[in-house]
Amino acid sequence: MRLTGPDAVPDWMKGDGRMPVRILVRWIMAMTLGIAAPVAAQMMPEGPVLAAADLREGQSLDGEWTYSIDPYRDGAAGFHGGPAGEGHRRYDDTDVAARTADDPIALYEYDMDASPRAVLPESWTGHAPEMRHYEGLVWYQKRFDAEIAPGERQFLRFGAVNYHAEVWLNGKRLGEHEGGFTPFAFEVTGVLRTEGNRLVVGVDSQRDALSIPPPVTDWETYGGITRPVRLIAVSETFVDDAWVRLADRDTLAVDIVLDGASGAEREVVFSIPELGLRRSVRTGDDGAARLTIAVPPEVELWSPDSPRLYEVLVEAGGDRWRDRVGLRTIETDGPHILLNGEPVFLRGISLHEEELGEDPARRITPEAARELLTLAKGGLGANFVRLAHYPHGEAMVRAADEMGLLVWSEIPVYWRIAFDDPAALEKARLMLAENILRDRNRAAVALWSVGNETPLSDARNAFMRRLVDDVRTLDPHRLVTAALLTEQERDGDHPVMVMGDPLAQALDVMAINAYNGWYGPDRLADLPAIEWRVPPGKPLLFSEVGAGALAGLHQPERPGKFSEEYQAEYYRQTLAMLSQIPNFAGISPWILKDFRSPRRQRPVIQDGWNRKGLVSETGERKQAFGVLADWYAERAR
Ligand code: GCU
Repeated sequence: MRLTGPDAVPDWMKGDGRMPVRILVRWIMAMTLGIAAPVAAQMMPEGPVLAAADLREGQSLDGEWTYSIDPYRDGAAGFHGGPAGEGHRRYDDTDVAARTADDPIALYEYDMDASPRAVLPESWTGHAPEMRHYEGLVWYQKRFDAEIAPGERQFLRFGAVNYHAEVWLNGKRLGEHEGGFTPFAFEVTGVLRTEGNRLVVGVDSQRDALSIPPPVTDWETYGGITRPVRLIAVSETFVDDAWVRLADRDTLAVDIVLDGASGAEREVVFSIPELGLRRSVRTGDDGAARLTIAVPPEVELWSPDSPRLYEVLVEAGGDRWRDRVGLRTIETDGPHILLNGEPVFLRGISLHEEELGEDPARRITPEAARELLTLAKGGLGANFVRLAHYPHGEAMVRAADEMGLLVWSEIPVYWRIAFDDPAALEKARLMLAENILRDRNRAAVALWSVGNETPLSDARNAFMRRLVDDVRTLDPHRLVTAALLTEQERDGDHPVMVMGDPLAQALDVMAINAYNGWYGPDRLADLPAIEWRVPPGKPLLFSEVGAGALAGLHQPERPGKFSEEYQAEYYRQTLAMLSQIPNFAGISPWILKDFRSPRRQRPVIQDGWNRKGLVSETGERKQAFGVLADWYAERAR
């Protein structure tokens, strides 16, 4: 959408223009793409993008940390609400043992060096039995030495901290981040020291009515530092962002943003060595550059059947940025989703970010990610995964890139969001931008979802449409979707499901969560007779269908809910029902694996687990697993 009229220039560009250059640059890039939203500025993270940071050389700060619980937030504020006193400030650069040895009457009521130990990244649910249901503030500390090369800049990068993080290094407050599923980084040049660094993070899992997600969800919160923490050193001027993709089947587009004093008017070299492709370009005075290159005829396109990744390089000054990128196109054509110009049916499954095992703690290592995706691809024959309900870790998305699975990526705009509050919208927009900026080089990501099962209202429609516009600004080369709800009506003798959600018309791909035969009055035998009245002319996914079963619970004679037989029959009847819908373009049943949910407390059957998995929490396959796998095998012929 081109810019027109006085609203063309966003407010922050009319004012003092103090917005950091990198954000201004991204706005200009969005405008030149001709798709910038004409009304409000695109929300952008304050910090650096550090694209492909997980591939950059750096020092891992994973491993042993100490942690100290603080349920009354004593380290965050004094008992009358003023600043915390010296003896309570977990984030001070203080060696408590030395301090109290030196002054025996000094009073400290914490000691981060002597606190319990934990191996990160993992949720605190895994630290100790008493942490299993902890919600609130936990202080973490990491002591480390660092090599500091002259002329380099150093950044501290967190893969994710759930839900709110406040970070200090050597007693200096670096900043804070809200949102449990997207990366953030702080520059620590000049604060970092070569020995005895004291990194302290206050992690608060508490959410409120303005949070994204809200306090009530159907999954375990898993508070804590749940993804890798790294110290990354870069040259004074470095490649902060590089976006490499097929703008269409003939055009390779590359956008590059340098960060640093000498980023302007700088020669940059882009190359894909395996294609013998090398181009140089000069950045503008904003440190940004764009290349559009004819696609080399020998390029092998990325697809689930052939997940070909290319090493791509951007060299500028002293920095050498790299990523591994698949080249492909994804678009729609009427009711079809086209991958590289060919119709594709999405044979999917939904996943939470939770590893296999009896006591998960959101430890999604590359191995854990591959184990889950192998169950999906190898076990079910899937070509698609819905990574619900929030951005999963880089390990999972990169595994999908490498193994060949298309991805539905989602921000946790879930259920009861404060749709009428600008602060909630700002958080959602920021989270969406952080997600897209992190993953838009991942060929596997085909769909950006702006939410799940959000209740209809004018405020909600405006909120969601704003997010849809942001997707189109940040990444016009992928499909935008959302998981929507439908209403059940009756038409004479048969039930009708009606999609009346006005948001559907704003989406590239409609998606429905449906539970006929599990929630509500429908009997399984009646499902194939249900008529679905949905807008024609664009692809329709079923982002959720599902039924619960306790692995090993068998009732062959009179299958009841939570028996494996009932779940299997639910899948047979549901798949028969959906197959009759003309624009049925794919499905991601709920869900690959049983997962922890505090809402599911029926003794013996649930015990705090949502049992809609096709496998148990330890990977034990239920009968329905085979029903879906057989159905996918038929579809894949
Ligand atoms: C909803 C929701 C899921 C939830 C599921 C269920 O559709 O999107 O997060 O877990 O239903 O009820 O199991």
